[in-house]
Amino acid sequence: MSISVSTPPSVAFLNGQFSAENVIKKVTRSGDLRGVFHDGDSWQAISPETPIYEVEMLRSPQGEGELYAGVTHLQPGRVGDEFYMTRGHFHQRREQGEVYFGLKGAGLLLLQDEKGDARLERVSPGSVHIIPGFSAHRLINTGNEILSALAVWPSIAGHDYASLTQGFALRVVERGGKVQVREVQNG
Ligand code: F6R
Ligand code: MN
Repeated sequence: MSISVSTPPSVAFLNGQFSAENVIKKVTRSGDLRGVFHDGDSWQAISPETPIYEVEMLRSPQGEGELYAGVTHLQPGRVGDEFYMTRGHFHQRREQGEVYFGLKGAGLLLLQDEKGDARLERVSPGSVHIIPGFSAHRLINTGNEILSALAVWPSIAGHDYASLTQGFALRVVERGGKVQVREVQNG
């Protein structure tokens, strides 16, 4: 019998960098996020080329029972008074959950169910976030450094961005040097 011992991919918990062959990278720039930030004038004022976040994903098999792993690196900054954030999504297969692990930086994970009820969890190095099925989710960087979080999710989950056209019920803004959470009126 030949026993196989291989070296798996690794992630540096200090900065979220993957060491693996075949990492897939996708950068999301300001120009990709039309309608995401509430202050459209401030969004217009920044270059559409401004990188807001990058996702590095391991190339994994797809199919029932398979898992994806990816690290999101979200830049610090704001559009107007609103902190940089990911677009956010439901999973296409709504019942599929996900786990996020905070690696670096400081921020918030915004979770919202299908009724529109929203809540926030603090993201920090070592934080573990169980995202239940039927929950939209978005990362928000409220700190001064890159926010990196590792995510693990079923490859069959898929992403549904379109069902969030009403947006999330909460916005996270800076007021007088403090982080403030605001309820959105009319979605
Ligand atoms: C995967 C997942 C994350 C996000 C990433 C970017 O299901 O939740 O890997 O895809 O944080 O956010 P979105 O996809 O909302 O642009
Ligand atoms: Mn997800």
